[in-house]
Amino acid sequence: MRLQNKKAIVTGGAGGIGRATSLAFAAEGAAVAVVDLNAAAAEAVAQEIRAAGGTAIAIAADVSSEADIERVVATTVDGLGGVDVVFNNAGIIRRTTAVETSVEEWDRVFGVNVRAIFLMCKHVVPIMAGNGGGSIVNTGSGWGLKGGGQAISYCASKGAVVNMTRALAIDHGPQGIRVNSVNPGDVNTGMLRDEARQLGQDQAGFLAEAADRPLNRMGEPEEIAAAVVWLASDESSYVTGSALVVDGGGIA
Ligand code: NAI
Repeated sequence: MRLQNKKAIVTGGAGGIGRATSLAFAAEGAAVAVVDLNAAAAEAVAQEIRAAGGTAIAIAADVSSEADIERVVATTVDGLGGVDVVFNNAGIIRRTTAVETSVEEWDRVFGVNVRAIFLMCKHVVPIMAGNGGGSIVNTGSGWGLKGGGQAISYCASKGAVVNMTRALAIDHGPQGIRVNSVNPGDVNTGMLRDEARQLGQDQAGFLAEAADRPLNRMGEPEEIAAAVVWLASDESSYVTGSALVVDGGGIA
C-alpha cells in the first residue's frame, strides 16, 4: 500500500494508460479522481475502483480549459479531502507533418498536451505546497526525447512536457513538490490504433512495427502504471525533474 491515505488526480483516466494507473493507484491505497473528456468511461473506471473496495470519483472535464481544471481541483479537494498526487496524462496525437498540420490542430495538440499541465500545476501547486508537498507525474513520450516521423505537433508538445517538467521541479522542489515525466514507447492502447487509422495503415502491420524493439513487443498500460506508482510514491523521494523512459528499449 505505497499510496495509502494519498489523494490522486489522474487525467485521461479513462484511457489506456490513465485507466491502468487509476486502478494501480487505488490498489496501492490512494483515493482517485478519474478525470476525462469521456464522462461515461471515467465513471466506469471510478465504479471499477469502488467495486474493488477503493475510493474514487469521476470528473468530466476538458483539461485544456482553465475553468475545467479549476473545477477538477476544487471537486477533488471537496470530494477526496486534498491532493497529494497528480498524473497529468491526458494526451492526443495528430500524425501529420508541419506542411499538413493546420494551425487549429497545432493549437489543440498543445492545448491538451502542454497547456493542460501548466494549468493543472498553476492550480494544484498552491494546495500541495500548503500541505507540505506532493508528487506530480507528467506523461511525455519517447518522441518527446528523440522525435519521430509525421507527428510534428505531438513531438513538439511532448518535448515541451519533458522540459516543463524540469522547470517545475526546479521551481517547486523547495516546497516539497517533486515533478517527473514518464516517457513511454509504443503502448497497447486506443491511441496506437487511432494512429494506424490516421496514417491509413493496416492495424496489424502498424502494431507489429510497434513491437520492433529489443524486448520484441509493445508495452502494456500496466507497465507504465507501475513506473508512475513508483514516481508518485515516497519510494522515489529523491527523484525530481527526471525523464523516466519506459519503452522496452526503443532506442532508435
Ligand atoms: P488513450 O487515447 O487510450 O487515452 C487518452 C485519454 O485521454 C482518453 O481517455 C481521452 O478521452 C482522454 N482525453 C483526451 N483529450 C482530453 C481532454 N482534452 N481532456 C480530458 N481528457 C482527454 O491514450 P493512451 O495511450 O492511454 O495515452 C495516454 C498518454 O500517454 C498520452 O499523453 C499519450 O500521448 C501518452 N503516450 C502514449 C503512448 C502509446 O503508445 N499509447 C506512447 C507515448 C506516450
